[in-house]
Amino acid sequence: MIDIEKCRITHYPDAVLAKRAQPVEKIDDNIRQLVEKMTDIMLKNKGIGLAAPQAGVPLRLFIISLDATSQNVRAYINPTVTPTSDEFDSVEEGCLSVPGIYTKIRRYKKCKVAATDLNGNEFTEEADGLYARCLQHESDHIDGITIADRMPSTAKIAHRKQLKRLTENYEKNKESKN
Ligand code: NI
Repeated sequence: MIDIEKCRITHYPDAVLAKRAQPVEKIDDNIRQLVEKMTDIMLKNKGIGLAAPQAGVPLRLFIISLDATSQNVRAYINPTVTPTSDEFDSVEEGCLSVPGIYTKIRRYKKCKVAATDLNGNEFTEEADGLYARCLQHESDHIDGITIADRMPSTAKIAHRKQLKRLTENYEKNKESKN
């Protein structure tokens, strides 16, 4: 049982962002409440995607709304994202869990997603452009990977101050919770 009240945005280098999330066993009211809470967090922070570990929950589930509106929020439960092209592109990305960093990330241009929706129906879709990028970004999250891991070492050097600040803030918050 997930305590929805306790769900809040997690920031790099929180451990929940670095581990492989577990499959959702059953789509029940608790999962529906989690998706509502994740939607709140995402829209409040003007994001277009959010994965459950970013709300502190290590489950294989993410939401996407490419135009950041509530009516276009979709849930992807136990998703599998597979590339459908050998071509890559490198476009600047941000992440609500790695605030203050925008950096070019290399991703497949096209992919497909197979997932289950909130009603328990399985679906598959082809994606390109921003949608393909967003699916790969969120899929990374449920495998314990953030843009801080994906960015090339030159970008890590360029963003070292902000990465250090995030690490310090995380340590500070951890201490104050104990
Ligand atoms: Ni992210």
